[in-house]
Amino acid sequence: MATWSAPGKVFLFGEHAVVFGKPGVAMAIRPRVYVTVRRAKRTTDVKSPYLEECFCQMGVHGTLYVRSLLPSASGLGSSAAVTVATLCAINDEFGLGHTREEVSQLAFEIEKKVQKGRASPTDTYVSSFGGLVLIDPTTKRRLPPQNFPLVIGNTGISHNTSHMLEMVAAFRKASPEIALPLLDAIEGTTRKALHSLNNPKDLGNLMDVNHALLEALGVGHPVLSKLVLSARAAGAFGAKLTGAGGGGCMVALCPSRLRSRVAGAIKACDASPLITTIDTEGARKEKNV
Ligand code: MEV
Repeated sequence: MATWSAPGKVFLFGEHAVVFGKPGVAMAIRPRVYVTVRRAKRTTDVKSPYLEECFCQMGVHGTLYVRSLLPSASGLGSSAAVTVATLCAINDEFGLGHTREEVSQLAFEIEKKVQKGRASPTDTYVSSFGGLVLIDPTTKRRLPPQNFPLVIGNTGISHNTSHMLEMVAAFRKASPEIALPLLDAIEGTTRKALHSLNNPKDLGNLMDVNHALLEALGVGHPVLSKLVLSARAAGAFGAKLTGAGGGGCMVALCPSRLRSRVAGAIKACDASPLITTIDTEGARKEKNV
């Protein structure tokens, strides 16, 4: 029996644009997902296409126990975290000897397959290695870790990442004269953010701009907008939706002393707040439970 965990993530900049070869910045966050794998004659208890693929691609059979402290279908990378933790646990339980890089790459291929060919390696890479990461078309680079005080607001409205990706792809095809400049402008916010990592005020402003661009791209939601506006009014440096959009979560960058106030403002909108920050560790082995 082997138990592994992997962290969730937030996109600080560049979601959707990364799928079209633009850069993005994402950060691993607490909480984590815990997965226990035990070898068996048949594969059982596998309730998601991501997990079926994990056993299929690794060519083994086993049983699975998943304990997730991350809300699913909410933009916090729970499917990637479960996939990465499952692959690591299978790798360990069956002594397959894959490197972390290989596991991360395989997790990305699984996500891509399940999401009908549309996925960036962001979620799976961040969940595998932890920390603050720049995803570029040619490289993935861990940036110096920043202890950003973040408040996440979960709308509780579940979304389907594949569906949101299809919507953006359709918009890009039907109206390239509008969609392409929006994707370029999102790239602009990401590139500028890389020079503002030590300046939370500027970073917050860039998050606000990124949010507006995502809304223009068609992946906003009225409840997300409400949470973003409430977080800003409560003193956040900036706030934006995070992940695929259309529901799910938003993230606010806050002055440390105002985290509880921002969380309270999100709660007052009937959403679930989560105060969090960076998780510098990626996937890790846990004591068996
Ligand atoms: C989902 O968390 C973020 C998207 O950019 C998809 C991806 O990067 O795979 C919408």
